[in-house]
Amino acid sequence: MRRIQTFSAMVLLVSLFLIFFYSTLNLETTYSRMAGPEELLTHPGLHVHERDVKTQHSNTPQPNAYNVSICKDFRKSVPQNAAYWNRLLWSALRNLDKRETLLSHDLDWSRCRETNQELLQTNVHDFTSYPVLFQDFLQAMNCRTPPVLLNQPNKCPSGEGNQTFLLFAIKSNLGNFEQRQAVRETWGREGKLKGGPRVRTVFLLGSSPLDDPDLSQLLSFEARHFGDVVQWDFHESLLNLTLKLNLLFQWTLKYCPNASFVFSGDDDVFVNTPRLIGYMQSLEPSKASRLYVGHVISTANPLRDPRSKYYIPLSFYGGPYPAYAGGGGFLISGALMRPLHSVSRIIPFFPIDDVYAGMCFKALGVSPEANERFQTFDIKEQDRENLCVHKDLFLIHQRSPQQIKKLWKGIHSPLLTC
Ligand SMILES: *[C@@H]1O[C@H](CO)[C@@H](O)[C@H](O)[C@H]1NC(C)=O
Ligand SMILES: *[C@@H]1O[C@H](CO)[C@@H](O)[C@H](O)[C@H]1NC(C)=O
Ligand SMILES: *[C@@H]1O[C@H](CO)[C@@H](O)[C@H](O)[C@H]1NC(C)=O
Repeated sequence: MRRIQTFSAMVLLVSLFLIFFYSTLNLETTYSRMAGPEELLTHPGLHVHERDVKTQHSNTPQPNAYNVSICKDFRKSVPQNAAYWNRLLWSALRNLDKRETLLSHDLDWSRCRETNQELLQTNVHDFTSYPVLFQDFLQAMNCRTPPVLLNQPNKCPSGEGNQTFLLFAIKSNLGNFEQRQAVRETWGREGKLKGGPRVRTVFLLGSSPLDDPDLSQLLSFEARHFGDVVQWDFHESLLNLTLKLNLLFQWTLKYCPNASFVFSGDDDVFVNTPRLIGYMQSLEPSKASRLYVGHVISTANPLRDPRSKYYIPLSFYGGPYPAYAGGGGFLISGALMRPLHSVSRIIPFFPIDDVYAGMCFKALGVSPEANERFQTFDIKEQDRENLCVHKDLFLIHQRSPQQIKKLWKGIHSPLLTC
């Protein structure tokens, strides 16, 4: 009796194992069918792009762009699953390894938008259930070169005594006149600080939606008067901030390539510029040339609630986020701009800009350095009026133009004893 029981238990186990084994096999085949790079590469849209870029490439070789290597750690951190972004990345990585980096990003602005809805629906089975703005993001994922509306090509002149130590590259919106003015009058004031390090400031803007009042004349007056506004013709929106970050890379490389440090941040933060500069000057050269410092979020995952501002659908991206510095304000070595721009050509746009920055740095093998003097989530309630606390910090999010002016005056007061 006992024997029979043991025997039937074994039969049961073996059959369960076999069932399990076959089901994984089956999963694997469906998985490779869904996630295979071949499907992506043979789909009509990408093919057209490929051909275009090839011809473009043979006419104007761009050796720099292809001299990229992507760090192993980054490759290991992005799962090869069926999610759309993951598939795009892995297909780009395979092409890079085969030395045929054929990117659709070099596409001209007028032709970069994916207008074929069917194609996106083939690649993303629940595309139509995505929020409208997210659908829009997917359609414009390969659009990286909007027309320039306002520029400051002479922002960073070369020559003795003109060396830019710190470039403030501040994300702003068209209507934020007051915020920009507060920044100009306080922490973003251009010029030479005592002892020589030179600070320069640019505000990075997109264009406003059609239904908004037309502020373009006011803005071009502002740009002429202050010489610090750069504007591109793309719609300002949360999901377009990655495009803005990419434009920061492009713009800096072209017009301010010798800046020692670049600050990327919002126009509603308070920055203690003298303290920040003291910190940068104190860095060892090896560290100063590979700096990525800010308020680091080290173990975040995509938010899967469609009501969330930072919602990421499961079929779009699968995997954890890399460690990244909060987008309210972080500091980068100017020397990293070129490598950042190069890896960003391989890595598909991700709809959250600071996560995207984290991905690019990880691909370069640069880890973010956490510094608690960057407070992108604000400080304790009881410290918010405390000037001594502010005098010791590098950055606080989020402050009104009036608060910024008051704090700035306060920390510079000769009467302040901390
Ligand atoms: C940047 O520095 C290089 C080498 O020092 C110099 O040749 C070049 O003119 C500088 N460019 C700008 C825009 O300052
Ligand atoms: C520094 O820049 C200013 C403004 O563009 C320019 O007039 C000056 O000649 C530059 N200095 C040197 C030494 O090139
Ligand atoms: C980003 O800008 C482009 C160009 O203006 C626009 O077509 C697209 O709708 C914008 N994306 C989002 C998500 O707003």
